[in-house]
Amino acid sequence: IAVDPFDLVVVGATGDLARRKLLPALFYRCAAGQMPAEARIFGVARRAMTADAFRAMAHEAIAAHVPPSDRDEAGVDTFLGRVGYVAVKADADDGWADLARALADQPGRIRVFYLATGPDLFGPICDQLARHGLATPGSRVVVEKPIGKSLDSARAVNDAIGRTFPEDRVYRIDHYLGKETVQNLMALRFANALFEPVWNAAHIDHVQITVAETLGVEGRAGYYDTAGALRDMVQNHMLQLLCLTAMEPPTSLAADAVRDEKLKVLKALVPITEENAADRTVRGQYRAGASAGGPVPGYLEELGKPASNTETFVALRADIANWRWAGVPFFLRTGKRLPARVSEIVVAFRPIPHSVFDDTAGPISANKLVIRLQPDESVKLWLMIKDPGPGGMRLQQQALNMSFAEAFGVRNPDAYERLLMDVVRGNQTLFMRRDEVEAAWTWIDPTLQAWSASSEPPKPYTAGTWGPSASIALIERAGRTWHEDE
Ligand code: BG6
Repeated sequence: IAVDPFDLVVVGATGDLARRKLLPALFYRCAAGQMPAEARIFGVARRAMTADAFRAMAHEAIAAHVPPSDRDEAGVDTFLGRVGYVAVKADADDGWADLARALADQPGRIRVFYLATGPDLFGPICDQLARHGLATPGSRVVVEKPIGKSLDSARAVNDAIGRTFPEDRVYRIDHYLGKETVQNLMALRFANALFEPVWNAAHIDHVQITVAETLGVEGRAGYYDTAGALRDMVQNHMLQLLCLTAMEPPTSLAADAVRDEKLKVLKALVPITEENAADRTVRGQYRAGASAGGPVPGYLEELGKPASNTETFVALRADIANWRWAGVPFFLRTGKRLPARVSEIVVAFRPIPHSVFDDTAGPISANKLVIRLQPDESVKLWLMIKDPGPGGMRLQQQALNMSFAEAFGVRNPDAYERLLMDVVRGNQTLFMRRDEVEAAWTWIDPTLQAWSASSEPPKPYTAGTWGPSASIALIERAGRTWHEDE
């Protein structure tokens, strides 16, 4: 279904995010017929460049990131026909009047300002938008993480944006919320009567959330070294996954109904403190090793520095102090240069209370629901069944397996496609509200402080392994083990 006509201004349009994600996503939506012919996309960046030169850059970006089977020249031309460029200096006065002129003929139209820049520019850009009368009532602003580096800096960034845009026109992207399978978590929980009655401490033993990557820090070492895995992945993506898993059913999918429930989870997280951080958290950093068969350098070599305490791996235990989840630990782990790229949520149920089988039946494993977010999106429910055949009552574990590729056989749209169209539609459900972001920082901050106060550096792990052994010890101390696909 086509959205209403819009003007979308991408500030930072020559950067990596615009080229890798935003332009390809917009192209896909155009090719799918969702973008009306009147829609306009303006690239904005510091560099002086003609609109033709920017279109050539956009063309290259699409050629590099959209497979040939998904594009033809006519479709690319149609898309590029909607693309323009204005040179603007984000933190100075240059160019803003030109941008105002370019947009002036459509003052009433939906306007989206996508700030694909560092967070230190969010405030100055919003101020310029206000000063030049660009922040019309129909306009909205989209920002990416990192929203701050701590609670205080996040508040400062949010205040700076809030000077120009009220909260109902601020779209804080967490691209994990746009992933098909993450949205499917809501379908699974709230469109099936089966799960909700057992979705609590009486029936669930613990939950594991893993986001493992095989890549290192690639060309982003400069940014990454100031962030680390806790800020880069846990504060946002992983806590959002935890919230969607743990939240109470919202009354509807209205933005605030969902966000209110997520906020309650964040506020119920048992604080990690300087005293218990060593017991609840593990931080690691990769050394040289092997990935995808080949040798890869260590983090410090990629960074080009002799030393750094930045973590490229985190494992931690989170507890939620409420009626539904008391006593159910949530184990989170994420890291770079792990053996596989896999993101999944494992809901581990409690064992059966009493076995009617004798020893020949074999061990009875507790049920597990494994939601694989990527790659090979699937939902697996691990059950015990009888070994087929006349050999007596022997049991084995098997999975009811729903693979998305087999079930649907369609391309999974990129998260940005969905999220960009949601901004145009004015739907904030899949975007983070200010209080959520700040509540997440409130919980993360003490761990950051405990780590920086500690004399112990991150634990080394060899690239291509599942992180430091302390991560295994962390979950084993609680009497559980990390899930491995059987
Ligand atoms: C980004 C992080 O937000 O998410 C990256 O900054 C990380 O470090 C990426 O690689 C992972 O996203 P995805 O969609 O590939 O799982």
